[in-house]
Amino acid sequence: MSEYGDSPVIVIFGITGDLSRRKLLPALYHLFRQELLPPDTKIIGISRKPLTPEELLSTVELCVLEKDNVCDPIGLRRVQEAIQTCRLDPEKPEDFRRLSELLTSFDGDGVKRNRLFYMSVPAGAYPPIIKNLARAGLNEERNRLLLEKPFGYDLASAEKLIGLLSKDFQENQIYRIDHYLAKETAQNLLAFRLHNPIFIPLWSCEHIQRVHIRAFETINIEGRKAFYEQTGALRDFIQSHLMQLLSITMMDVPTEMTSEAIHVAKQSFLDQLLPADPAKAVRGQYDSYRQEVGNPDSNVETYASLHLRHGAERWQDTDILLETGKAMDRKTTDIIVEFKTPHERRRNSLIFRIQPGEGISLDLVAKEPGFADRMHHTALDFSYQEAFKDKQHIDAYERVLMDAVNGDQALFASDREVLATWRVLQPVLDSWKADGEGLRTYKAGSEGPNTL
Ligand code: BG6
Repeated sequence: MSEYGDSPVIVIFGITGDLSRRKLLPALYHLFRQELLPPDTKIIGISRKPLTPEELLSTVELCVLEKDNVCDPIGLRRVQEAIQTCRLDPEKPEDFRRLSELLTSFDGDGVKRNRLFYMSVPAGAYPPIIKNLARAGLNEERNRLLLEKPFGYDLASAEKLIGLLSKDFQENQIYRIDHYLAKETAQNLLAFRLHNPIFIPLWSCEHIQRVHIRAFETINIEGRKAFYEQTGALRDFIQSHLMQLLSITMMDVPTEMTSEAIHVAKQSFLDQLLPADPAKAVRGQYDSYRQEVGNPDSNVETYASLHLRHGAERWQDTDILLETGKAMDRKTTDIIVEFKTPHERRRNSLIFRIQPGEGISLDLVAKEPGFADRMHHTALDFSYQEAFKDKQHIDAYERVLMDAVNGDQALFASDREVLATWRVLQPVLDSWKADGEGLRTYKAGSEGPNTL
């Protein structure tokens, strides 16, 4: 057991919010049900409005039922034993002193517990919480902050936020979440690159024409009007999830997969990405969006695509295409690595399916049987579900929480990585700020604006 004990207290700001309901509470329930968290882990749900532990527990049950269709009473009882609620106004220092007393009451027998403060609130709400945590002494070494994306709104605000955090917290106390990195398939991407040496000599612009990363969702903004009006697709997906997936696809693979080595490789890759060219960026908005958010003038994009270039010689003429959209005709997140071809007829691709249908396929060309010289695209296909039927599959948020509890920062974004991604996107953010010029409307449930 460490100096700070093995049983943490997880404090969740924004326990009644959308993210809590959709991701956090079901993930915590699963971890408790399978007894994966250290025994006697405590959860404190923070809310501005009065909320009883019983009310919170029934929310947990509802969320789990919504997600899994079943909720095991034993799992629920374990959650019940762990959860408490605390009413708190982020602006009031005295409420944080009360929270600090509550947290201290869990320490005992000379053991101080680790605390994880999960900020499931908009980034605009961070400053008073961070300031008041520090004022109440809740910033000493054993306290960790878990921050949701997007980290900042642009380069300047991200720098400001880093400045604010660094006054009271050390970088090793800060966990910037990107749950896409915690998806099994994203982790497998690194393992794939490390352990399948046949691809190593192919991994450069000499052989790779294009890396295309797509994240399409069929869902719309699902009631998150205020969040989305301030965010848009570029900030919501590209700055975080797609930039991180891009890094682990194209960075130099470290020989050892330590947290430090991964961050060094990622940082070096991101530092050499060239600023995005606004002329090659496309934004779109699905047709019912303005009505949905009640803002007839909104220019917020629900679809975005960018072509990027990398400055290193290794990648100098590989085209990078990042694309994301809501209310599209299909749900898919994949990474398509397209290989060069000496003739323009056929091209091989290696496709990493992040979700759904998690797996990897290599697109090959075979001759159709018969007299005609007819070629056919076929695939060597690896499916996660098939290959690891009997293995337990861990949800990304379960992984995020477990890694933060264990103090493993490998799957979290560092301050410098975040700044590098904003630097790449800033020219597009600037050009899209002015007005809605070039914003294309697409039909909800369609293929989105045609950009390729
Ligand atoms: C979040 C975005 O980070 O990821 C949401 O803010 C998006 O807009 C969600 O719907 C998708 O996550 P997943 O794991 O369901 O693909």
